[in-house]
Amino acid sequence: MKNPFIFGRAVAGEHFVDREEELSELTASLLSGQHIVLFSPRKMGKTSLIKRAFGELEDADALCIYIDLWQTTSTHAIAKEIVGSVVNKTYTSAEKLGRELKDLFRSLRPKVYIEMDGQIGVELGREAVGGMEEALRDALDLPERVAKRKETRIIIAFDEFQEITHLNGLQLEKIFRSTLQHHENVSYIFAGSERSLINMIFGEKERPFYRFAKQMELNPISDDVLERFITDKFIRSGKEIDRDAAAWIAEFSGGVPYYVQHICHEVWYMTGRTADMGIVERCLKEQILPSLSSGFQTIWSRIRSREQRKLLICIANEDQPRIYSQKLIEKYELKSPGHVGKAVRALNGAGLMDGNGIEDLFFEEWVRVTFSF
Ligand SMILES: Nc1ncnc2c1ncn2[C@@H]1O[C@H](COP(=O)(O)OP(=O)(O)O)[C@@H](O)[C@H]1O
Ligand SMILES: [Mg+2]
Repeated sequence: MKNPFIFGRAVAGEHFVDREEELSELTASLLSGQHIVLFSPRKMGKTSLIKRAFGELEDADALCIYIDLWQTTSTHAIAKEIVGSVVNKTYTSAEKLGRELKDLFRSLRPKVYIEMDGQIGVELGREAVGGMEEALRDALDLPERVAKRKETRIIIAFDEFQEITHLNGLQLEKIFRSTLQHHENVSYIFAGSERSLINMIFGEKERPFYRFAKQMELNPISDDVLERFITDKFIRSGKEIDRDAAAWIAEFSGGVPYYVQHICHEVWYMTGRTADMGIVERCLKEQILPSLSSGFQTIWSRIRSREQRKLLICIANEDQPRIYSQKLIEKYELKSPGHVGKAVRALNGAGLMDGNGIEDLFFEEWVRVTFSF
């Protein structure tokens, strides 16, 4: 029997649950030429939703291209990634592409070749006419030129778009914005997981991307839907899970599908015939948390501020904590609402908190059991 729960990569098909409304809003907007900012904290399912939407969009004859900015560490790498993925999606033969290259670019003179796996490889060279900025503009304009030529709509998803701020932030944003705004046949998805950066890029009046795209926030999935998903998957794979155990996992996960899949993946292995609460508890305590603990220890040791540590301990130990209340400030020996606010901002910036909560539920659980109060 095959483990029916998957985590650690985007899911599709039978592994994908819910998101009907988001899916139809996303596909309808993109097909009409509306650009989208897709925000949620990590692990909520953005990349999965994008890949799922791509399936529908391709059925509607759009060409879909996925570009992850997480791995691109320079302007040159972004340009290369865009050119490489656009040509691979739109040209099946390197010869044909070779013949058309002249018409597709202004300043770039890419060399094309066939890679071992049959993909078309591109070499950009670093000496484009007009320098790197012009090279990037040229690359960014490629999808629009191809879309016109092929008389089709192209959809481009830039995943983890906030990474642009870690490169050459404002300057890159200006180049992107001033280029993309002329595109009529390409729709863009900008997905991001860091609230403050995404708000800054798309929400601040002075920024180039201000109001460029429609904002969509991916929310938690309802407990009922997740509970049913868990129960169904167990049954279809020849095992079972008690109702209270499935309900507990759904509730613990707070609607974030990643935790459901991760916990269930491990619980499924530990289960002979029927999973119950005992197995779920053992699984968290003896399997999942220990496997993550050394990473969490490293994170913890890097938090130098005592106020920040105390705040995390407070949040992990309290149910729906009102972190600015005098009661909790006294109980956890936090200094003042002002200090709490400062710690919240720092921890948000470090990606450990999202808003007033701890972002990673396993980290929260680890803090709770390690520093019980
Ligand atoms: N709609 C969904 N149905 C079932 N599982 C999902 C769904 N969306 C996400 N997941 C689970 O969550 C994990 C993280 O999803 P991902 O799309 O990578 O999130 P994000 O891009 O927001 O960080 C996936 O590997 C999968 O296990
Ligand atoms: Mg993602």
